[in-house]
Amino acid sequence: MLSSDRGNLESCRRLIGEGDLVIVYERHDAMKAITVKGGAEIQNRYGVFKHSDWIGKPFGSKVLSNKGQFIYILAPTPELWTLVLNHRTQILYIADISFVISFLEIVPGSVVLESGTGSGSLTTSLARAVAPFGHVYTFDFHEQRAASAREDFQRTGLNQFITVDVRDIQGEGFPEKFSGKADSVFLDLPQPWLAIPSAGKMLTSDGVLCSFSPCIEQVQRSCEAMAAEFTDVRTFEVLLRTYEVRDVKLGDLSSCGTRSFGKLPCKRKQRFLNEEHGDETMEEVPTSVMAKPCQETRGHTGFLTFARLRCL
Ligand SMILES: C[S@@+](CC[C@H](N)C(=O)[O-])C[C@H]1O[C@@H](n2cnc3c(N)ncnc32)[C@H](O)[C@@H]1O
Repeated sequence: MLSSDRGNLESCRRLIGEGDLVIVYERHDAMKAITVKGGAEIQNRYGVFKHSDWIGKPFGSKVLSNKGQFIYILAPTPELWTLVLNHRTQILYIADISFVISFLEIVPGSVVLESGTGSGSLTTSLARAVAPFGHVYTFDFHEQRAASAREDFQRTGLNQFITVDVRDIQGEGFPEKFSGKADSVFLDLPQPWLAIPSAGKMLTSDGVLCSFSPCIEQVQRSCEAMAAEFTDVRTFEVLLRTYEVRDVKLGDLSSCGTRSFGKLPCKRKQRFLNEEHGDETMEEVPTSVMAKPCQETRGHTGFLTFARLRCL
């Protein structure tokens, strides 16, 4: 179960049990979600790990394989879930997600309408933000995607905060029963301008709409559609720059690339083999802490256009 509300945050502090969803963390770029089953085991480059060894340990524990090597067993937060979920579509990542949640002013108790559901990456974070009193109603016209998203929300334990329905939002708009009831609406659709009049109808007075589009032409058409009923229309592009921080031997600095900076001299103990005597000694070698932008940093994902419903 994900840490979705105060109660579930508590559940992340409790001990791992049979049937819990955990994130197996090998490295920042090698993680997967696993359901703990007493008799099961996983095998990877570090050896064989028995699930039964994890039961009774706190989330975040370091656990050992048959070879004595380790991995971490983490609580499945929405931030980690976004990194391990099954990609059935393009998804929103954490930089865009956090910006969306802030600018849509989503708080516990909010009612949020979303379309399309896609792989449920954004929906998962929306659900944690509205919990424990609010609800996310999410719509996708693709039946299989909606069904898979429902299964995922069941697995992560967030299904109590999410309702998934199959509906063509560009063609039919959101259901009438939500008229004037949504605190915020989020659109990730190919032709969002077709759904904007309906989004306006669903929002409470001064509610906020956000539309995510990869192309600027989509943004232009959406802004035109927003002009009729919305105010404070603003478009953002969120560019996240991740840094790699490493401890390197001073002689190896050139291998870190010319863009490296932020050197903090320090000393690290290193094991040396004494060739003459064949024994090992520990010596201190000068090292530096290097920080440099990660090569794999994601560039453009899309544009986020926010607009507030004009009060009458
Ligand atoms: C890029 S995905 C959304 C990804 C999602 N934001 C996430 O973070 O996982 C876009 C989704 O919109 C759905 N979609 C496209 N046109 C639609 C329409 N007219 N009505 C409802 N859903 C639609 C697609 O089936 C697809 O699943």
